[in-house]
Amino acid sequence: MPSERVTLQELVENGHLDTVPDDYLVSEQDRVKFEDYSCDARELPVIDMVGVEGERRDLVVQQIRSVCEEWGFFQVKNHGVSLPLMKRMQQEIREFFDLPYEEKNKIRARFDGHVLPDEGYSDRFGLKEGSANWSDRLRLYTLPASSRRYELWPKHSPSFRETLEEYCEEQDKLMSRISELISEGLGLETSYLNDYFAGKYQQQLQVNYYPPCPQPDVTMGLRKHSDNNLLTLILQDSTPGLQVKKDGQWITVKPMEDWFVVNVGDQIEILSNGRYTSAEHRAFVSSKPRMSIATFSMPSNETVVGPILELLGTEEQPKYRAISFSEFKDSFYYTGWATAPTGKGHLKHLLISQD
Ligand code: OGA
Ligand code: NI
Repeated sequence: MPSERVTLQELVENGHLDTVPDDYLVSEQDRVKFEDYSCDARELPVIDMVGVEGERRDLVVQQIRSVCEEWGFFQVKNHGVSLPLMKRMQQEIREFFDLPYEEKNKIRARFDGHVLPDEGYSDRFGLKEGSANWSDRLRLYTLPASSRRYELWPKHSPSFRETLEEYCEEQDKLMSRISELISEGLGLETSYLNDYFAGKYQQQLQVNYYPPCPQPDVTMGLRKHSDNNLLTLILQDSTPGLQVKKDGQWITVKPMEDWFVVNVGDQIEILSNGRYTSAEHRAFVSSKPRMSIATFSMPSNETVVGPILELLGTEEQPKYRAISFSEFKDSFYYTGWATAPTGKGHLKHLLISQD
């Protein structure tokens, strides 16, 4: 039975909520401790991509290697995507979320009780009762172009489609440049990862809209998780919310209008046999609305991903079982996500015993 529940934005805008409904409460240990944040808390590393095709390349490859080993999360500047395009994309998305509910509802992804809604506008994407995130989403497949379901793309504004097509091409170029640096950091050929996924790759856009919240300290915009894909680029607006876990501590990522956050996904952790790590992260909410635009690069569904043999040599054993991306996603969503994301718990069942 398709659900007729309204999205969270609609509930907040018309429901005059002054408390967070039970369905959205998170356990005490997973709550944000706002009083913990001080201005001098640790900051996420920033990689400056200026001159990376020239004299700064060795330095940047070295920096990428160390942040991927230690953090799995960083920010990039001078990345080649134009600020006007980033702003145009944000503006299009804002216009979509400002539309009347009935208009947005035309591209609603509905959970039919069996199949997870994977695309369209939605409030919870398959999360079971009792574990909802304080957010709504718009998710669209963007690459390859043949995977686009234009019937699910917003029709307003009229320039949405053109802007997203341009944006996703630019994101793809940046992902590919970062993949080259990651390959070199692993001691592989520059084009190794791009060749590995040539023709076996997909890209998805996920917009997270976090409505203003009456009790930010008892809920979470997005519970802790690692991303299940290859790489994620996140464009944040000016409201803080994104946090990454480092050495047991949650660190808030500073919103910077012309930078992207880069997030190493589980598939890179597996390919690199654990040299590079996918980071646990989450998003908190506040009394202000927040919007983030994430671009996910991922293997095509049937592509099998396992540790890269060239990296292992003769001594090292693979730490993870090779598995197709669709199987990986199934276990990610059904074992962890559906009941509430459990950080990186979903990777454990792939671990090969080392004794
Ligand atoms: C995600 C994510 C963080 C944010 O979409 O997977 O982690 O800042 N988003 O919204
Ligand atoms: Ni994420």
